[in-house]
Amino acid sequence: MKKLQFNQTTLHVVKGDITRCEVDAVVNAANESLLGGGGVDGAIHRAAGPELLAACRTLDGCRTGDAKLTPGFRLKAAHVIHTVGPVWRGGMHGEADLLASCYQKSLELAEAHGIRTLAFPAISTGIYGYPLEQATAIAVGTVLKYLENQPESDITEITFVCFDDATVYAYEQAFEEFERGTD
Ligand code: APR
Repeated sequence: MKKLQFNQTTLHVVKGDITRCEVDAVVNAANESLLGGGGVDGAIHRAAGPELLAACRTLDGCRTGDAKLTPGFRLKAAHVIHTVGPVWRGGMHGEADLLASCYQKSLELAEAHGIRTLAFPAISTGIYGYPLEQATAIAVGTVLKYLENQPESDITEITFVCFDDATVYAYEQAFEEFERGTD
């Protein structure tokens, strides 16, 4: 699968199940209650076991665009970064900024906790209905902007984990767009 090197950080696009990623932290596309749901949220809670829900209950929810940290419990990943993406409502309700904030806050939280490898799902592009190409451009663009602004970042690997071929294609297109821009 495609990868991109940015300073000392390698960005990867892979197709697979994020619950199987052997990284320091997996990012969960949660809802504001943090009490579980369908999609990747449901998969992460199933794989992490009931202690994850118990830990989430102590967090008092999470606002859209923000991110909170828990252990990974039975996951291979030591941590879960729970973030809440915007529901797509046509694009005129601050959705782009809120989605960018999910990636920015997740990276800041990872950095603050010495997390060096993390995996993102395609936040908001499932149940929340965010158009895939727009969401992918925001995901890759926000991560690259973070790394540009944090040249001393300790994060060594960021993996975009895609659950289907269309999402893989969208991320690979976003990587190629960046590479074209740097030629
Ligand atoms: N691994 C990786 N990606 C996955 C997995 C998985 N196991 N399961 C689903 N996905 C993908 C979806 O195919 C989609 O590309 O994650 C992306 C995000 O989709 P959702 O999980 O539906 O998340 P989102 O669109 O952000 O909606 C969040 O859904 O599950 C509920 O509680 C959650 O209410 C919240 C809403």
